[in-house]
Amino acid sequence: MRTILVIGIGTGDPEHLTLQAITALRRADVVYVPDKGAEKAALRQVREAILARHAAPGTRLVPVAIPRRAEAGSDYRGVVADWHGAIADRYAAAFADTLPDGGTGALLVWGDPALYDSTLRILETLSGRGLALDWQVFPGLSAVQLLCARHRIPLNRIGKAVTITPARQLGPRLPDDTDTVVVVLDGDETFLTLEGDDLEIFWGAYLGTPHEILRAGPLHAIRDDIAATRRTARAAHGWIMDTYLIRRRGDE
Ligand SMILES: C[S@@+](CC[C@H](N)C(=O)[O-])C[C@H]1O[C@@H](n2cnc3c(N)ncnc32)[C@H](O)[C@@H]1O
Repeated sequence: MRTILVIGIGTGDPEHLTLQAITALRRADVVYVPDKGAEKAALRQVREAILARHAAPGTRLVPVAIPRRAEAGSDYRGVVADWHGAIADRYAAAFADTLPDGGTGALLVWGDPALYDSTLRILETLSGRGLALDWQVFPGLSAVQLLCARHRIPLNRIGKAVTITPARQLGPRLPDDTDTVVVVLDGDETFLTLEGDDLEIFWGAYLGTPHEILRAGPLHAIRDDIAATRRTARAAHGWIMDTYLIRRRGDE
């Protein structure tokens, strides 16, 4: 049996790991470092800074090359399932080559492993293939938590529900019964097309990193500024990750 520690590392600040996460990291014989190619090199550097700060000296680091996902087209779920299968192949090979039976490996997951991350599904896949694996999950601070903390707002209004969604699921209007929506994975600036004069936006990019940018205000009044700001920042840094909360203006 091999043990895998799935460790949420937050969104860039080495001080955002929990004490449990740091203890887990120091317990690992091997840390697997996903390598998503040149365009994600900046994120790799953030992970390396976290390891330099918290991992035990001499911890073995094993890079795992993560294949790119094919364009989704009309069969989104099928493409994602194939992609997860290909990533599972890479991890199966890495575990077989570098982690002896009885050994403990760590996977560092951006933010929190429960939120829009495939690691836990991939471990289920590997287990389903008959690989003898046990795994434990150490939660991390997600981009959603950072966004609320930086803007000093609660995630929910009193007694109201919150929807968290990738931008591709967002329609041109918020559904009538939706009070607050948090949007991740918006490479297409979907906030520019959202209808409604009663909406306010709380936007954050590079949350938890030294490049952090925040904007908040009425959606229709500041969305052009947000779009221009994100394009300039993306050109300057070569990458961007941003998250935003949209809610109807009204009572807290
Ligand atoms: C694949 S999801 C991973 C979410 C991650 N597991 C978490 O808990 O935050 C990636 C999306 O999370 C958001 N995100 C992650 N890190 C961020 C950051 N440092 N600043 C702003 N948004 C971030 C962005 O919307 C990005 O497109």
